[in-house]
Amino acid sequence: MANGRRKIAVIGAGNVGATCAFVLAQMKVADIVLLDIYEGFAKGKALDMSQNANVLNYDGRITGTADYNDIAGAEVVVVTSGFPRQPGMTREDLIGKNADIVSQVGQGIREHAPDSVVIVVTNPLDLMTYHMQKVTGFPAERVIGQAGVLDSARMAHFIALELGCAEEDVSPMVLGGHGDTMVPLPRYTTVGGIPITQLMSQDRIDAIAARTASGGGEIVKLLERGSAFYAPGSAAAVMAESVLNDRKRMLPASCLLSGQYGLDDVYIGVPCIIGAAGVERTFELELTADELSSLQGSGNFYKTQLSELLGY
Ligand code: APR
Repeated sequence: MANGRRKIAVIGAGNVGATCAFVLAQMKVADIVLLDIYEGFAKGKALDMSQNANVLNYDGRITGTADYNDIAGAEVVVVTSGFPRQPGMTREDLIGKNADIVSQVGQGIREHAPDSVVIVVTNPLDLMTYHMQKVTGFPAERVIGQAGVLDSARMAHFIALELGCAEEDVSPMVLGGHGDTMVPLPRYTTVGGIPITQLMSQDRIDAIAARTASGGGEIVKLLERGSAFYAPGSAAAVMAESVLNDRKRMLPASCLLSGQYGLDDVYIGVPCIIGAAGVERTFELELTADELSSLQGSGNFYKTQLSELLGY
């Protein structure tokens, strides 16, 4: 039955998509449409989540579908469809299979939710976000990649463990690509307003930065089947809510660069403001020569991959 509520679509009802939908349901911001190629899978997850509404006191409608007509009117579309990593794989190993899925999903979004803001979670993240922008033809500010919120949260957790402090007091900053080339920025990472460079030794900071960069791989190895989903799904939900409610959260996210940091025509993680229009503004931080060269190295790595593996 039609109602006056707003709509978010989540494509892919797997681990990341279902988690994202579940977190969004608890935020009570919109009705949620969960779309998967396996209709019963999407419907089953949606029904299970709907039956949880009484337990957790949320009231938006959650429906499952395989039909793109059902995403019409969605203001935000979160894309999680695609294969996750298995032990021993890099995110880039997923590129062929997941590019085909993003092509298919992107066409569905272009046709049925042409005014939406798209948040991509499918890996390899920065490459798939670029591909999604090309497939939809949406302006770049309406296609954003989720990675920085997750990578920063991983770093925050390791810092909180190290200092024995509350997670919420850590303000982390991780830029660059969502992979081995990510660029944790300890100089811009604070706890209760104090830079971590004043709170722990360089050795410990280096160890935390390294563990952050391989944070997803650590989980893939432990799980032995599939990859992380609680934090990635929640991170995407936070971004979606910032768009839907025009919160203008300042978050790191994968954005199309056009000259910032000396990089052009590549998606990579930078700080930005996320609101109703999508990426409303990106920020160019002052970086040391080493930090800048790491970020440019990350951007250039993805530029090469875009041309060699995706033909851009
Ligand atoms: N259209 C819609 N859904 C699809 C399509 C498609 N063309 N192809 C696959 N899917 C669905 C699958 O049916 C599955 O339900 O995508 C879902 C993926 O779920 P999982 O296998 O559980 O993977 P998940 O852990 O959720 O990861 C999804 O997010 O973090 C990234 O690297 C991860 O690329 C992976 C993606």
